[in-house]
Amino acid sequence: MINRTRRLRKTENIRRLVRENKLTIDDLIYPLFIEEGINIETEIVSMPGIKRFSLDTISKELDEVVALDIPAVLLFGIPSKKDETGSETWNDDGIMQKAVRFIKKNYPSLYVITDVCFCEYTSHGHCGIIHDNDVDNDATLPNIAKQVISHAKAGVDMVAPSGMMDGMIDTIRQALDNTGFPNIPIMSYAVKYSSAFYGPFRDAADSAPTFGDRRTYQMDPANRDEGLREATFDDQEGADILMVKPALAYLDIIRDLKNNFDRPIACYNVSGEYAMIKAAAAKGWIDEERVMMESLLSMKRAGADIIITYFAKDVAKVLLKK
Ligand code: PBG
Ligand code: ZN
Repeated sequence: MINRTRRLRKTENIRRLVRENKLTIDDLIYPLFIEEGINIETEIVSMPGIKRFSLDTISKELDEVVALDIPAVLLFGIPSKKDETGSETWNDDGIMQKAVRFIKKNYPSLYVITDVCFCEYTSHGHCGIIHDNDVDNDATLPNIAKQVISHAKAGVDMVAPSGMMDGMIDTIRQALDNTGFPNIPIMSYAVKYSSAFYGPFRDAADSAPTFGDRRTYQMDPANRDEGLREATFDDQEGADILMVKPALAYLDIIRDLKNNFDRPIACYNVSGEYAMIKAAAAKGWIDEERVMMESLLSMKRAGADIIITYFAKDVAKVLLKK
């Protein structure tokens, strides 16, 4: 036998030398749910270990994130009042804006990214303005611009639009450039599927639609070529980072983007992916640490440069003890 692949697997040190991919703390973004109000620290039942915080209780969470050297957080705001348009999203004194100011003031080195959408802020739970029982794409764009400018004025480092409106990247780029924020980058939820894996998040963020679903704006899970088309448009409109969401069931799409675009690729390890591992581990059916590390490593192997994950603190703890 000439070829024996087992020769390079014999000891841990030779395995280290030929290892192709590595998961590091540098890859991670940690999502945070911030609720308007005081003294809030609510466990999310379907996401063990993840809580909604108000700004007066969030410091110990942020202290931990910084101590673990996690580079960035992705913020989701949960307002105390909702309306038809989600007008709280562009209130300069809204929960998101207050959160950005609080974090940048008290944790200046932490990189702060805001999710730009409306579903937590609209009474109907959809990601934009409703006309004729559907989200009106073009009517929603000016509101996205208002929201982004308000986040920028609060001091955000990067914005991440997640609503899957056509033309949203172009709208945001122009809005930022025309108001003196040409250096704020955009991480686009470019290839976002209409997925059942978002279930626990919708409890966490109180963002489930009150009628219908998101299939007229989020992608059909059956489609692969369309993912390239979505990413092409966002690339052309100037998105700085292209994201695929969810991650684990869409590793083929992550690889497609890695092979076709000269932009950093991010993926979102979503709430349902997190919940499944936590639940099986709680039953003693899988080894939580190993399944978590293997899943996240598979995203790196697929081509992700950045992973948004509720496991960020858990992973950082594992990596630091190694
Ligand atoms: C909403 C939004 C969703 C997530 C991030 N932003 C859910 C949705 O589209 O309903 C999902 C995150 C997760 O499941 O962890 N624009
Ligand atoms: Zn939304």
